[in-house]
Amino acid sequence: MSTAANSMPHEFHPLITGETMTGFDVEKVRRDFPILEQQVYGHRLVYLDNAATSQKPLAVIDVISRYYERGNANIHRGVHYLSEHATEEHEAARRTVRSFLNAADKREIIFVRSATEGINLVAQTYGRTHVGAGDEVLLTAMEHHSNIVPWQMLCEEKGAHLRVVPINDRGELLMEELPKLLSERTKLLAVTHISNALGTINPLRKIIEIAHQHNVPVVVDGAQAVSHIKVDVQELDADFYVFSGHKVYAPTGIGVLYGKRALLEEMPPYQGGGDMIRSVTFEKTLYNDLPYKFEAGTPNIGGAIGLGAAIDYINHLGMENIAAHEHDLLGYATESLSAIPGVRIIGTAAQKAAVISFIIEGIHPHDIGTILDREGIAVRTGHHCAQPVMQRFRIPATARASFALYNTRAEVDALVKGIEKVMEVFA
Ligand SMILES: Cc1ncc(COP(=O)(O)O)c(C=O)c1O
Repeated sequence: MSTAANSMPHEFHPLITGETMTGFDVEKVRRDFPILEQQVYGHRLVYLDNAATSQKPLAVIDVISRYYERGNANIHRGVHYLSEHATEEHEAARRTVRSFLNAADKREIIFVRSATEGINLVAQTYGRTHVGAGDEVLLTAMEHHSNIVPWQMLCEEKGAHLRVVPINDRGELLMEELPKLLSERTKLLAVTHISNALGTINPLRKIIEIAHQHNVPVVVDGAQAVSHIKVDVQELDADFYVFSGHKVYAPTGIGVLYGKRALLEEMPPYQGGGDMIRSVTFEKTLYNDLPYKFEAGTPNIGGAIGLGAAIDYINHLGMENIAAHEHDLLGYATESLSAIPGVRIIGTAAQKAAVISFIIEGIHPHDIGTILDREGIAVRTGHHCAQPVMQRFRIPATARASFALYNTRAEVDALVKGIEKVMEVFA
């Protein structure tokens, strides 16, 4: 190999490899995220909008910029040096995702744009071939719009019906209702792993087991899960599992659809175009093997490489360490916010991720968000793309503080002070 060759391909490979960190030094971790150093309206940024999107560590930013500085080329079709190495990096990212989800085979990992696209892909391929007039698609009352609307569109097209598993006042699924809603008409169950609006962690293993007893395959929306808990698609026995890179410290525009190989093999392609074909004539096109059959056109190569780097970063910190740290934050924040008279937490499930939706009596969530913003605190306000959840709790909106691996107890204290300020303004 030439010197140039030696210096290129592995330089845009993840910077962090090796042993899992023992313990968790959040101040050290924060230094990996340059965006957190800035001031907003004269205050140190307190970023608590992680359920919307997470910030990116230098390990990811550097890998992406190095890819564009030194490695950019289109993949799969090139025989030249850069193309071959970009292809290798892209496929290395697929192997990293496979291991992250513990999928049995890298052909089960389809790169898509986002969780939204992954769900639409399943609806438009598996859904369109398996759901017919009078059939049912089962959802839950805590789904994000992206796990409702694609199914609704499918049902409208096919003359099928949506059914919904209800939730209780804590925001937990009424598990006893699930078997009652499954019948021979049910063709699919689509369920979120963790609710973005409530923080509820669903008992997914049990849900999938019950669905499978009725021969119903399960599509899991893992958009809020993969950054908080270890996901093992084989252990869960999930048929499909989707997530977005940007919520797991990777860039926007890249996401993953996992599907069991047997299901993916028999599904028709989603989009037609380059790369998803084996051969094309005007008479007939033969489709490519998995996973390429579902990856038409030039993919988000830099995004996939960035996702691989983000997963390496998480692995380096250790998912158990991240989960323990976030669990501590959730406990501390729940206790702190519950102690403020007039604050009501929406979503008090026994199993929760570090997401706190809340309302304050007599104050609109948008006003809460605006005043907190002036204190440098970023939270999200609104219906969080989960309007049925708002309807269930008979509220128009909530303010939502959602935590990530870099948040601290001091930031929870800042949130509490900010909320007290909101209450003073509206007193
Ligand atoms: C539970 C859940 N599902 C799906 C999505 C959609 O993610 P994306 O917009 O990245 O496709 C989100 C985003 O907020 C989410 O929280």
